[in-house]
Amino acid sequence: MVKDIMTANEDVRANDREIAALREHFPACFAADGSFDIARFKEYLADKVNVTNEGYELRFLGKNYARLLASVDTTTVIVPDEEHNTKPENANSENIYISGDNLDGLKHLLKSYARKVKCIYIDPPYNTGSDGFVYNDSFHFTAEELEEKLSIDESQAARILDLTKRGSASHSAWLMFMYPRLLLARDLLTDDGVIFISIDDNEQANLKLLCDDVFGEENCMGCICRSTGQTTGQDSGGLGSSFDYAFVYGRTPNLDIAGLPLTAHDMKRFENEDDNGKYAYDQLRKTGSNDHREDRPNMYYAIQDPDGNDVYPTSSTGYDSCWRVEKKTYEQLVADDYILWKKTTRNGNKVWWPYVKYYLEGRSKRPSPLWTDLDGNKKATREVRALFDDEKVFDYAKPLEFLKKIIQIAPNMQEGDIVLDFFSGSATTAHAVMMGEKKYRYIMVQLPAVLDETVTSQKVAKNFLKGIGRSPTLDEIGMERIIRAAKKIKEEHPDTSADLGFRHFTLKEPSAKTLDKLETFAPEDGLMIQNTVLDDFGVPTVLATWLVRDGYGFAAPVETVDFAGYTGYHMDKHLYLIAPELSDEAIGAIVERYETDGAFNPENVVLFGYSFLWTEMESLKANLARLKAMEKNLHIHFDIRY
Ligand SMILES: C[S@@+](CC[C@H](N)C(=O)[O-])C[C@H]1O[C@@H](n2cnc3c(N)ncnc32)[C@H](O)[C@@H]1O
Repeated sequence: MVKDIMTANEDVRANDREIAALREHFPACFAADGSFDIARFKEYLADKVNVTNEGYELRFLGKNYARLLASVDTTTVIVPDEEHNTKPENANSENIYISGDNLDGLKHLLKSYARKVKCIYIDPPYNTGSDGFVYNDSFHFTAEELEEKLSIDESQAARILDLTKRGSASHSAWLMFMYPRLLLARDLLTDDGVIFISIDDNEQANLKLLCDDVFGEENCMGCICRSTGQTTGQDSGGLGSSFDYAFVYGRTPNLDIAGLPLTAHDMKRFENEDDNGKYAYDQLRKTGSNDHREDRPNMYYAIQDPDGNDVYPTSSTGYDSCWRVEKKTYEQLVADDYILWKKTTRNGNKVWWPYVKYYLEGRSKRPSPLWTDLDGNKKATREVRALFDDEKVFDYAKPLEFLKKIIQIAPNMQEGDIVLDFFSGSATTAHAVMMGEKKYRYIMVQLPAVLDETVTSQKVAKNFLKGIGRSPTLDEIGMERIIRAAKKIKEEHPDTSADLGFRHFTLKEPSAKTLDKLETFAPEDGLMIQNTVLDDFGVPTVLATWLVRDGYGFAAPVETVDFAGYTGYHMDKHLYLIAPELSDEAIGAIVERYETDGAFNPENVVLFGYSFLWTEMESLKANLARLKAMEKNLHIHFDIRY
């Protein structure tokens, strides 16, 4: 359980993730003693990658520390919200809401959803000075540990520790906060996955460089410039700002942003119609940049007009230009009836001039990066207000229209794909997913920050939550919004088949008392089974944490199995035995199930180490060993977790 992870974390170094990636992809570069052959590595790059020595990179205090944070595993456990999750609307939902720090959330998610997330949207604190961002983390490294893990000297370690402890909102502190989260987020994306990150002028320049570092400059797909609908910051004498931005990075290069449906205005161009449908047309002559004959000599050739005369691509001002396509393509266009000849006046003469038709069907529009026609921030506030009886319970919501458009333009989205937002706030992203025509799943992560009464909206939120019997934390606002938005959608569209529920989980760090028990427990103690470790966690928490750890996700359809009065849990290749008191009858029933049920073949038997006597585990092992000799020939792997 947590103890295993804590033990493994002791040896973690800042570059463990990178080294693991090198080992995975370049095993030939590692010798038996673990040393790395850089000359061999260079051979892999030869001729393909231009090796540069310019040494251009983003540096900030704590960069290595941030990488260390990405490498150490989370020691939180996943506590399912049993009451919420068993309600009919949530029991089969594939939507997930996680209350917890997103650094822990991402680490859990990676165990089940690595390379499975198609679209990530995040709206992190902008570090405006008034948005409440201050760096804090719950790691307790000593200066000596940092010196060793980061290979730095004493004074550097002290400076980093100072930055983590004093609640800084400096650029370095913000970068140190974002860097590990982005590193982990990248690993969640599918090859055709994309991440959209909202930001404003306070950190946009830093975020661009950080993203180039994490995702690779070649994977930058652009930057959306969004009108916020209001101008702020002019008091200081500058221009102020009416925009914020969203950087877009793909997991791999050459992805295609999805097109948007045409607007009524766009449709006006498609007023012509023939047997193939409605069409618009453009000149066959290339226009705009690179339109001179010498730019594309192979696209300068004569074609015949309907009267049989030669026509050359000449510009209206008389220079030799070029067609849009090569001769061969032109001939195909003629054969397909895509060329339209119209009489126009050129240099005072009425002449035939060629155009290319393009049809309306299946056509979409490439989105512009300038988004000025959407609802602004005030509308977003009203949208949340409308769901909370006109109370302003949240300050920094994004407009629904914006999130809908983000999801719409994410490349290659298919039904069932996951949209993740790990700075969920008021859960606009979840709301937008529920409203969409296509059925996607969402995962939201939000810190259960205790509402601060000195901030007006948080005071209002606190009172609101009190009035409806919810706890005074920010995640409750997010969940309540989803529930209210779902209700509204259902009222407005009674026939909807959208997944309007969600399953809720909270990430919890074991208490100091529990940690103490884990620390002092020795497996021999199991002989007495006086420990109360399982009581501290509870079976549902152990099970949920393990299901995610073993790759089954937060919505695993786990089977509860009764083995002669002992309850076990079966999920695909795993059998989980968590509760104590595994009787001989129960062991017999487990063996029998393996023997008699052809569909029951869990190769991993996972035991909660604190629950079992050594004799019970040995008896189970001995009995299951017999299965190897049987028809199924199963090699069962025993995994005793602490
Ligand atoms: C700007 S708001 C997001 C607003 C959201 N896009 C919306 O439309 O409502 C940023 C959110 O991230 C949350 N947050 C900040 N640090 C976090 C962390 N470490 N883990 C999870 N959530 C965090 C904040 O509590 C806040 O709710």
